[in-house]
Amino acid sequence: MISEIIKLNSGHEIPAVGLGVYLTPPNVAENITIEALRAGYRHIDSAQYYRNEHEVCEGISKWIKEDPSKNKREDVFYTTKIFDDNHGYELTKKAINVSLERAKDIGYIDLILMHSPQSDYERRHGSWIALQEAVKSGLVKNIGVSNYGVKHLKELLSYSDLTIKPAVNQVEIHPWLARKDITEYCKENDIKIEAYSPLVKGLKMNDEHLISLSKKYNKTPAQILLNWSLSKGYIVLPKTVTPSRLFPNLEATSFQLSDEDIATLDTLDKYMTTGWDPTTYPLDDEKK
Ligand SMILES: NC(=O)c1ccc[n+]([C@@H]2O[C@H](COP(=O)([O-])OP(=O)(O)OC[C@H]3O[C@@H](n4cnc5c(N)ncnc54)[C@H](OP(=O)(O)O)[C@@H]3O)[C@@H](O)[C@H]2O)c1
Repeated sequence: MISEIIKLNSGHEIPAVGLGVYLTPPNVAENITIEALRAGYRHIDSAQYYRNEHEVCEGISKWIKEDPSKNKREDVFYTTKIFDDNHGYELTKKAINVSLERAKDIGYIDLILMHSPQSDYERRHGSWIALQEAVKSGLVKNIGVSNYGVKHLKELLSYSDLTIKPAVNQVEIHPWLARKDITEYCKENDIKIEAYSPLVKGLKMNDEHLISLSKKYNKTPAQILLNWSLSKGYIVLPKTVTPSRLFPNLEATSFQLSDEDIATLDTLDKYMTTGWDPTTYPLDDEKK
């Protein structure tokens, strides 16, 4: 069964489909956020690196003002990420405040992630302590990581002053990049997977297996891809700047691929990344 809402280890809930806004220009981000919320999305995934946090928050705020009796802040899940050059306790503290300032009109941030593990033990650790403190302040509800390999997760979970486990690990995942090691480790440790680039950046829309399943289920190739991730219990973050694609992508929760068809897609796995891959970034002792 596909869940539209997923419970995090923090006790908070997250909508299983979120709109990704990487490479969504600032002058488009506000409008596509409003359109997405009107279409039924309740989850937007931004980052400091995307340079559109302020516009996304403006979009959420304007949508709430459209009909405050129906459109509630607490029904929207807003994520941002701290980039690698802001790792370390002091820099992360400042960066969190920058994101909170940009989110001023919506009051708080639902989830802040470490964008990647690309620094060193001391700086990753300092960042995590700053994130834990942000949760205590009440202005950040959940914290998590992105692009963490199993070794980075093991390092984090071994901090002696760990008080909050990551709620999620956001990594590139689709049938051509299943990441069994990371997904199994996260499952064992109750860390939810957020699948980024779940549409393989559009690169596989003409794949014969996708086309055949698309005909069989009368669904778009994008819906088949998203359903594969959702069937595994992952949160998905499809990106689009095309309003007509918003609702169909969200509707990927409305059917169920059979176990046999999921297994067919599982055979496509060949570690195909479409962008960066910090999950393999060396730990300090591997750099020597
Ligand atoms: N943490 C990280 O390091 C990281 C890295 C990458 C991505 N992400 C997150 O994950 C999100 C999604 O990943 P992504 O942007 O790399 O790629 P994606 O969602 O896999 O693919 C986006 C591409 O697919 C197209 N598309 C969207 N819906 C479609 C449909 N129904 N049919 C055909 N094509 C469709 C989009 O075109 P149009 O926009 O032109 O419609 C765009 O070119 C990002 O926006 C970001 O939030 C995180």
